[in-house]
Amino acid sequence: MTSFDNFGFTFLEEGFCARDIIEQKINESTSSDDKDAFYVADLGDVLKKHLRWARVLPRVTPFYAVKCNDSRAVVETLAMLGAGFDCASKTEIQLVQSLGVEPSRIIYANPCKQVSQIKYASAHGVQMMTFDSEVELMKVARSHDNAKLVLRIATDDSKAVCRLSVKFGATLKGSRLLLERAKELGLDIIGVSFHVGSGCTDPETYAQAIADARCVFDMGAELGYNMTLLDIGGGFPGSDDSKLKFEEITAVINPALDKYFPADSGVRIIAEPGRFYVASAYMLAVNIIAKKVNMKEQSGSDDEDDGTNDRTLMYYVNDGVYGSFNCILFDHAHVTPIVHKKPKPDERMYPCSIWGPTCDGLDRIVELCALPDRQVGDWLLFENMGAYTVAASSTFNGFQKPDIYYVMSRSAWQCMQQIHAQGMPALVGEQSPGNMPGHCGRESNLGLPAKSCAARVL
Ligand SMILES: Cc1ncc(COP(=O)(O)O)c(C=O)c1O
Repeated sequence: MTSFDNFGFTFLEEGFCARDIIEQKINESTSSDDKDAFYVADLGDVLKKHLRWARVLPRVTPFYAVKCNDSRAVVETLAMLGAGFDCASKTEIQLVQSLGVEPSRIIYANPCKQVSQIKYASAHGVQMMTFDSEVELMKVARSHDNAKLVLRIATDDSKAVCRLSVKFGATLKGSRLLLERAKELGLDIIGVSFHVGSGCTDPETYAQAIADARCVFDMGAELGYNMTLLDIGGGFPGSDDSKLKFEEITAVINPALDKYFPADSGVRIIAEPGRFYVASAYMLAVNIIAKKVNMKEQSGSDDEDDGTNDRTLMYYVNDGVYGSFNCILFDHAHVTPIVHKKPKPDERMYPCSIWGPTCDGLDRIVELCALPDRQVGDWLLFENMGAYTVAASSTFNGFQKPDIYYVMSRSAWQCMQQIHAQGMPALVGEQSPGNMPGHCGRESNLGLPAKSCAARVL
């Protein structure tokens, strides 16, 4: 039984949004020195993504990639919505199973696993797992009672920002050898998976990978395998400012699926979206803890110039690349600061750099951007900070991870409860958390510790 007992989010009152909570928290900190960085995460945004996924990719069941953001509230939200999960380790499996998610909703999608963790999966009923080598097949044959193996194939990820096929994935030729070896070992291969890499700029990569998967299905059939699972991986953008939009990708994926794996083929299609679900749900607020004003060397002076033209500013803030902004190093992210105190229309902008709080020169968040002159104690905001941020941040140099305040509107919560109880609505295209059918209007009966958000801060 799935249990949702410790969600710990705050309800957004009617007409309020996550940004209002940022304002409220910043206002509360005004009179104190306690201005630690913090997140506000809107779980309703995760729900919106789930509805969008179902509307645009109706044939594909999402198995959320836990590695992307393993916050319990996010995983719990998706568990409640009925998503599956891509777990890469024992700890991720434990987290998902601690929420009562049944093993059939988990794919152990790490092609190179530690033997003890394969045994853990076996003992806990997790059967679906990926592989891409003969050694892995032999490990699984020895360590798992009833594995349902998914062959990960390589893709042409040369147009992706984060490449994965440099590390994982069998070639088509290699796939045949692996299928033959699996047959000899008496292993069950149920399907094929791939990942086109993240930040993919060419949607045709998905179509090519789906066509390649078809080839591997056919090879399998020649060897007597009746494969029934296609896993199209992740890499779907998490915010609408990406170069390639989600709907541009799905416009290529859907016809490719219909061509190579038509609905009557009996093949179940899943995917492993990570950033898609969480990137836009999180906003980070950081505080300016130090500042330097640098004067450029002057060649000659202009009488009218008050000197400000030759200034560059260095802002030091209380979260950096060893913390939330590890996404800059590990996920090739580019982040854009928003000044909390809006600049006046005629306010002068300066060339600025933004640095994290540690003593490391590598700890630079933005090399060059234009910002107004702000003071120690002022705030900078960063949107789209939910993917590959909190999951991989450290406390290097003793800097603590920011608190995360989870929020959700009542209508989103009611919509989630309805989906949990009745499954996804048939006409998901017309549903959004704000216009779900009437009986969504009743109050929560799950007895969750949801608190009401106090007052709107303007
Ligand atoms: C196997 C696998 N699946 C899914 C993902 C999620 O990718 P994304 O967050 O780009 O959707 C990753 C990310 O590295 C991955 O390695």
